[in-house]
Amino acid sequence: MAPSSEYIIEFKIDVFKTLKLAGTTTGVLVAIGLGAYYIHRSLQSSKRVVLRDEVRNILRPFQLSEEQIRRVMANLNSEMTNGLKSNSATNELAMFPTYVHHGPSGQESGEYLVVDLGGSNFRVSHVVIEARNRMRLNNKIFLIPHSLLLGEGEKLFDYIAECLQRFIDDNKLSLHKSSDYKFDLAFTFSFPCHQTSLREATLVSWTKGFSCTSVVGNDVALMLQEAINRRKGLKIEVVALVNDTVGTLMACSSTYRDCRAGVILGTGTNACYFEHLDNVPKWISPRDNATKNVIISTEWGALGKNGCLDFIRTDIDRELDESSLTPQQQVFEKMISALYLGEIVRLIIVDLVQRSILFPGRMQKSPSIRPDYNIFLILRGSFYAKHVADIESDTTEDLSITTNILTSIGIHEPSYDDCYIIREVCKTVSLRAAKLAAAAIAVLINRLNMPSVTVAVDGTLFRHHQNFKKNLIRTIDRLVPRTHRLVLSEDGSSKGSALVAAVDRRLKSASTTVEKTFPS
Ligand code: GLC
Repeated sequence: MAPSSEYIIEFKIDVFKTLKLAGTTTGVLVAIGLGAYYIHRSLQSSKRVVLRDEVRNILRPFQLSEEQIRRVMANLNSEMTNGLKSNSATNELAMFPTYVHHGPSGQESGEYLVVDLGGSNFRVSHVVIEARNRMRLNNKIFLIPHSLLLGEGEKLFDYIAECLQRFIDDNKLSLHKSSDYKFDLAFTFSFPCHQTSLREATLVSWTKGFSCTSVVGNDVALMLQEAINRRKGLKIEVVALVNDTVGTLMACSSTYRDCRAGVILGTGTNACYFEHLDNVPKWISPRDNATKNVIISTEWGALGKNGCLDFIRTDIDRELDESSLTPQQQVFEKMISALYLGEIVRLIIVDLVQRSILFPGRMQKSPSIRPDYNIFLILRGSFYAKHVADIESDTTEDLSITTNILTSIGIHEPSYDDCYIIREVCKTVSLRAAKLAAAAIAVLINRLNMPSVTVAVDGTLFRHHQNFKKNLIRTIDRLVPRTHRLVLSEDGSSKGSALVAAVDRRLKSASTTVEKTFPS
């Protein structure tokens, strides 16, 4: 039966009433909800403001102003010029001439072995250079037992020779070679070395946590050659000693003709660049008309030794330095490189815990806290640059990535606030590192003074730490208007070192050809 119009009106009124009632109720509920939300927010934010003020005070010294960055640039630039003048040990920067004068021409070829030593493991590679510098590379990473890093130097070199033997045998590299065939080997050795020729290099000091005895002051290319010679049947000649920055530059310059600088932003940091020999007063080796430039390994990680970075060093930097294997050394490197970034963050976290800003009340020995939590707080080096990178880029709403990382290192059930603060710490420390690295690269670009320049870069921070890379590029763009680009040099330290050996071979054979053609 159809409803009467009266019923329809009634119904409409009922619906209207109901909607009105519901609307009022919803309105009230929404108002209560919003009220509660805002009260919660203001409580939260007022709590956070208190926290953040204290946190800010701790982080402030890590935040570099444009003026400070420009002062770092000026100091680095003048220390580079000083370092080129003499080999005095009082120089901030070593500015080592590397005896590499030319980039590849594209006509290099041949097969080479490369030993790449510079981090906690080392790599043996077999590199074949074909026409137009196309390269085939086969390599193997060998772990270095910790005892060897801190033990007798000769043992380290014997271990390298043993690994070379294994690599040659496993890859059957000697098959189809005559019995007197000798492999040419380029030794990528990424530590400060004073070179007197392409294959003679005295280690000045260890960096990056190495500390083998009886190596400093000795020719490391010779030490490797002697270790190889001690293994009967191993036929290898060490033909070049190359810093990783130089390999990085050389590998890139076969593709980018305007590539004149190589930078490592990894476990350590350093840069090299082509310098005109006229600007190197300390160059005393013979020089012919064709030799106009030389690659200089700056060893810029040492900047700050004499206090020129004290105006930006924080108490945390000093604490890290004092407890390191190399106090008062590699001051700049300790603010930038991957070996130290995690430790800077850890020391700030420990400070915040001690002030009861982080994990309040959980520092005390409580049965609910597992011992590994305390281990993190006590153990140096237990927080890595990778953690910094992952936490810094955590954009999840509940900061779950940060929670998971903290849990994995023994900090269980961190609060949202804990995670938030730790993310701020990571961002700040990483931004400072990126700005300092950018300042240094800007100095290089300015010194090269070319209409456009390519800088070859390698190292974990550049390759895997996306925020670091973004901040680095952004800061360089602000500091130098000159046209420039940063290019990742893939496997540079191995391929580039093979190229150094190949260029040397080409130049030597060219000069013997000239001698044969024009007997004097
Ligand atoms: C350290 C070394 C330097 C190397 C750099 C990057 O700073 O002293 O020679 O190039 O690390 O590996």
